[in-house]
Amino acid sequence: MGVLTGGGDCPGLNAVIRAIVRKGERSFGDEIVGFFDAWDGVMERRTVPLSVESMRGTLPRGGTVLGTRRGSPFDTFDGVDRVKATLSDMGLDGLIVIGGNGSLSVASRLHSEFGLPVVGVPKTIDNDIEGTDITFGFTTAVQIATDAIDRLHTTAESHDRVIVVEVMGRHSGWIATHAGIAGGAAVVLIPEIPFDIESVCTRILQRHERGRYASIVVVAEGAVPVPGTFELGERALDQFGHVRLGGIGYLIAAEIGDRTGFETRPVLLGHVQRGGTPNAFDRVLSTRFGIAAIDAVHDQAWGQMVVARGTEILRAPLTEAVGRTRSVDIALYSDVAEIFFA
Ligand code: F6P
Repeated sequence: MGVLTGGGDCPGLNAVIRAIVRKGERSFGDEIVGFFDAWDGVMERRTVPLSVESMRGTLPRGGTVLGTRRGSPFDTFDGVDRVKATLSDMGLDGLIVIGGNGSLSVASRLHSEFGLPVVGVPKTIDNDIEGTDITFGFTTAVQIATDAIDRLHTTAESHDRVIVVEVMGRHSGWIATHAGIAGGAAVVLIPEIPFDIESVCTRILQRHERGRYASIVVVAEGAVPVPGTFELGERALDQFGHVRLGGIGYLIAAEIGDRTGFETRPVLLGHVQRGGTPNAFDRVLSTRFGIAAIDAVHDQAWGQMVVARGTEILRAPLTEAVGRTRSVDIALYSDVAEIFFA
């Protein structure tokens, strides 16, 4: 059996690997190898034997012991052939791909177009993968953001400032909405609902008129303005053609300052939200996902991923996750979060 972790790292990855290894070795007598650095490690056959012994102590550890990369075997002319050759030459019965939208799309294509024996485990702090109610890492990221907002309240209040906190969330505002509700934000801006900077400022002005001189504005990195209302400027692309996000909080803080005359400060939480130990909930979810993944391999449930639905861990076709993004529950945003805004 092979295992890889792909895409951005996420608290709980090691807990998934540990559970796969624990159940694989102890219940099925499996021999499990990890591939370093996602698909690069598969193509270049950079492997490490994984055992209960070697995974000891990794449950609370953030990041991934296997390393991770973005990128895909489909990016190079012979990438898929190299993946196929690695699997057959090493005699692997299956490959467990722990990854986000990108890695799961690759896994899905490798299965549907080339018949490779893959099982997926969805992962992202953004919580935006279709097919599963929740991904591990998300509640840890929300807690980190909430802790930061709690701290920012007291300094904002001491100085009568507006603090704009930028959180992760490329396509969806799950972290922003949850941390905004949990942290008592005055405004939350998410990618799913384009914002109007004028009405953001109006809310803050009204709040000041009511004697609340400090405000916390939470903005997801992928938030977008209503077209024509506010310019975000040119945005650089990374090597995979993804827009490099991060920085909208600076622009919004400056604009609020200019329009209202209030003192503002931006805070970009960035990768702090992805690093460090997973919380208890994410450790349990990761462990359940890992066990479900090794069971799926033994059932030869190729082309499937493990998913959380309600309180159960089930399986769903990888194709459910491909090319889609799971948006924020708009009812949570409008019926719950917005009641407390401004
Ligand atoms: O997909 C998870 C995520 O954390 C996004 O929220 C963010 O846009 C992206 O990864 C950042 O990626 P990188 O680590 O490559 O800067």
